Amino acid sequence: MTTPKITTATIRAMKGSGQKIAALTAYDYPMAKMLDESGVPFLLVGDSLGMVVLGYPDTTQVTMPEMVHHLRAAARAKPHALLGCDLPFNSYGTVASAVANAKVLVDAGAEFVKAEGGREIFPQIEAIIADGIPFCGHLGMLPQHVLEEGGYRLKGKEEAEHQRLLEDAQLLAAAGAFALVLELVIPPVAKEITRSISVPTIGIGSGPDCDGQILVTQDLTGSFPWFKPRFVQPMANCAMEIKSAVATWKKSLG
Ligand code: KIV
Repeated sequence: MTTPKITTATIRAMKGSGQKIAALTAYDYPMAKMLDESGVPFLLVGDSLGMVVLGYPDTTQVTMPEMVHHLRAAARAKPHALLGCDLPFNSYGTVASAVANAKVLVDAGAEFVKAEGGREIFPQIEAIIADGIPFCGHLGMLPQHVLEEGGYRLKGKEEAEHQRLLEDAQLLAAAGAFALVLELVIPPVAKEITRSISVPTIGIGSGPDCDGQILVTQDLTGSFPWFKPRFVQPMANCAMEIKSAVATWKKSLG
């Protein structure tokens, strides 16, 4: 039996189907292939690659050429999964740059693009969608703004923030975003947003009630042992496996 290609329509149809959307990051060919072979329907070349692959302290230094390099590698896996890519920091400050850079990512193999923010980047989001490029929103904690925020913090606790998140989610869904990532949104607010919009929410550190969950694969697999987000329960310890394989091999050399 051939595995059907996952599209944005497939992901949208998963909302309310009783099946949670499993989403993971993939920054290169082998990881995209392994995750695809594991049946993960939603793959993201996230700008988190800046931290877990390139060694930057946060995502603010990631460039378009770096995203394109990793996206091309992941796209060579030709996954059945839907493959998307983040627009990195400073690549969508204006409508013109947002559309131009989204097109660069599509040319490099992205089947959708994602950018961080709500009403403050709404003209850019509208223009990307008007150009026929599938768009995934990202609300809540916006890692590209971590320096202004002074750290990673939970969102939606204050009433004004709660209302703003809800309104932004509705705005993006109405504009045609096919899905929304909710990062570090307090669980009751993530649940309320999920119930109030017709497109799927994909949570990260936002509780169990989103339509799907996304993780940085290195966090899930224990491949980046120097930092572990509080909300992640690693399912493997790949860093330890690698070190142990190397130690065994080194010993075998005599
Ligand atoms: O950069 C990233 O990988 C992301 C996901 C973890 C949501 O934005």
